[in-house]
Amino acid sequence: MSKVFVTGGTGYIGSHTVLELLRNGHEVVVMDNLSNSSAESLNRVKALTGISVPFYQADLLDKEAMSAIFAEHTFESVVHFAGLKAVGESVEKPLWYYKNNITGTLNLLEVMQENRVKNLVFSSSCTVYGEPDKVPISEDAPLSAVNPYGQTKLTIEYILRDLFQADQDWNMAILRYFNPVGADQSGTMGEDPNGIPNNLMPYVTQVAVGHLPYLRVFGNDYPTQDGTGIRDYIHVTDLALGHLKAIETLRLSPGLIRCNLGTGNGYSVLDVVKAFETASGVAIPYQFMPRRAGDAAAAYADPTLAETLLGWRAERDLEQMCKDSWKWQVNNPNGYS
Ligand code: NAD
Ligand code: WQD
Repeated sequence: MSKVFVTGGTGYIGSHTVLELLRNGHEVVVMDNLSNSSAESLNRVKALTGISVPFYQADLLDKEAMSAIFAEHTFESVVHFAGLKAVGESVEKPLWYYKNNITGTLNLLEVMQENRVKNLVFSSSCTVYGEPDKVPISEDAPLSAVNPYGQTKLTIEYILRDLFQADQDWNMAILRYFNPVGADQSGTMGEDPNGIPNNLMPYVTQVAVGHLPYLRVFGNDYPTQDGTGIRDYIHVTDLALGHLKAIETLRLSPGLIRCNLGTGNGYSVLDVVKAFETASGVAIPYQFMPRRAGDAAAAYADPTLAETLLGWRAERDLEQMCKDSWKWQVNNPNGYS
């Protein structure tokens, strides 16, 4: 099988994708600067697969370090997860987000080009749809950015489009993830956010394990069935498998593709709380708070294009997502540390 270079491969989605790549016979090399992750995730990958993945602690902003990695290996493709992803932080530190995500990606693309490695899978996000005017969201919906983080994803999508227009030897899959949650079924790998989580599921699991007193539900006056926000939660293992399908698709039918990776199901915050309580047997106390700035009432994918283009569909339901998130958190109350 092919040798795949995974940037951001010690992070949450990256490490789960590394695991599935190895389980499916790919050879993998990982780079990450560990700014938001721990190399312990790769020890867990080794415990599950028996494979010790070559790991480079390096920064996308250090082009020489990246060139040195490409000089040591012959890669068929690159899966590019590395980037900063916290929306609130991006509002406070826009220059840092633009530099890290955009300059970092430009460096990677230049090094790939210099080494004639032109197969790329890129982590985009449903954030590129801004505040969607209708759901489900299909790929032809209007694009916009409502914060600097989203602007970095949108800008990178445009850079990739322009690069492909200039040189059609490139093969690129732009994958727009909805809300990744869950963990490998083993309970040994999962999401390990720094500090207090921004996202719903890790917040819920930290309430369940007693690290946080209660969940703050942001808004109960949305025009939804119970007044709370609706999202498309997708199991991280399904998401990881989508990347394997993307690598195969680029091999069989080269070109530039963009598609949503979501389930197509929308669940409210209270649906998630209930499902989590059932899966874990732990009650989640919550309080309603004002809406969080910038949050849409409802966002969920039209997942049909991914099925058509990649032959991929999410298989794991909300109950499985909650069970696996809980198993990871309860077995690793302090994450990887
Ligand atoms: P993560 O923070 O766990 O992983 C990203 C990794 O990139 C981290 O390990 C971090 O240390 C690394 N990194 C950041 N800047 C780097 C740099 N300059 N050089 C080298 N490494 C660097 O996040 P994740 O949830 O696994 O997200 C992976 C990708 O998917 C990101 O690009 C993110 O924007 C995108 N995404 C995430 C979500 C989500 O909700 N988790 C949704 C849509 C898209
Ligand atoms: C989900 C729902 C909140 C926390 C974010 C990024 C997006 C993409 C996915 C990267 C919303 C509610 C949350 C809490 C709550 N990431 N909530 N209490 O905002 O849909 O998407 O992650 O690309 O760009 O913005 O995810 O998990 O933060 O929120 O009530 O403590 O849970 O209001 O309705 P979001 P989320």
